[in-house]
Amino acid sequence: MLAVEALDVAYGESQVLWGVDLAVPPGQVVCLMGRNGVGKTTLLKSVMGVVRARGGHVRFEGADITRWPADRRARAGIGYVPQGREIFPHLTVAENLRMALIGTRRSADVRPALDVFPALERLLGRKGGVLSGGEQQMLAIGRALLTRPKLLILDEPTEGIQPSIVTEIEDAIRRIKRELGVAVLLVEQYLAFAERLADAFVIMAKGAVVAAGPPQDLPPDTVRRHLSV
Ligand SMILES: Nc1ncnc2c1ncn2[C@@H]1O[C@H](COP(=O)(O)OP(=O)(O)O)[C@@H](O)[C@H]1O
Ligand SMILES: [Mg+2]
Repeated sequence: MLAVEALDVAYGESQVLWGVDLAVPPGQVVCLMGRNGVGKTTLLKSVMGVVRARGGHVRFEGADITRWPADRRARAGIGYVPQGREIFPHLTVAENLRMALIGTRRSADVRPALDVFPALERLLGRKGGVLSGGEQQMLAIGRALLTRPKLLILDEPTEGIQPSIVTEIEDAIRRIKRELGVAVLLVEQYLAFAERLADAFVIMAKGAVVAAGPPQDLPPDTVRRHLSV
């Protein structure tokens, strides 16, 4: 479904990604792991088209999308929830959800987001800025789902949220995969959460992939060794 091949990315003079390969098969959850600063967010941004590739390719459902602008990638079926969530603090939850539908031909029905996160229903009239971190994360994922992505990209969804909501988000990701058939590319530092969800891991260090594959194919402790100390 998604294939990243020999991707090089640089910010000005400073190269951040070096020949990165990564694949997300249809309907699978792939967990991208690695310490802070290794280039995980940069990789997601270059899949989304927010950051340009200097070399290599990004393919989605067989098309070479390496030079496509971000909005075209979104329309093709890539949904992206950035690190830090980026919801609109002065808009209500309902308005935040409807923002996802602007410029699409879909009706303003936010129901699919509420089906995945029933907790959002009683928050619809609340301003985004007063929600807890976990509620904001549910809103951000729910909003991304309204565009009916085939691939959902999540950048550290459990960062800074309380444990009860971590479980809710974990269950939601499982349902998004099983019931909606959506593939997920997940960056996560929370190892137990990642281990419960991942069909495969991709582990990065210093801008390059150092190990990849289904959990049972990786040597014991591979993932743990490459997490934040
Ligand atoms: N907009 C930017 N301009 C210049 N350097 C950046 C920018 N964004 C990230 N970097 C640098 O790129 C490297 C990788 O960052 P990032 O992709 O955010 O890593 P991660 O998500 O794994 O923590 C870091 O050294 C970071 O300082
Ligand atoms: Mg990051």
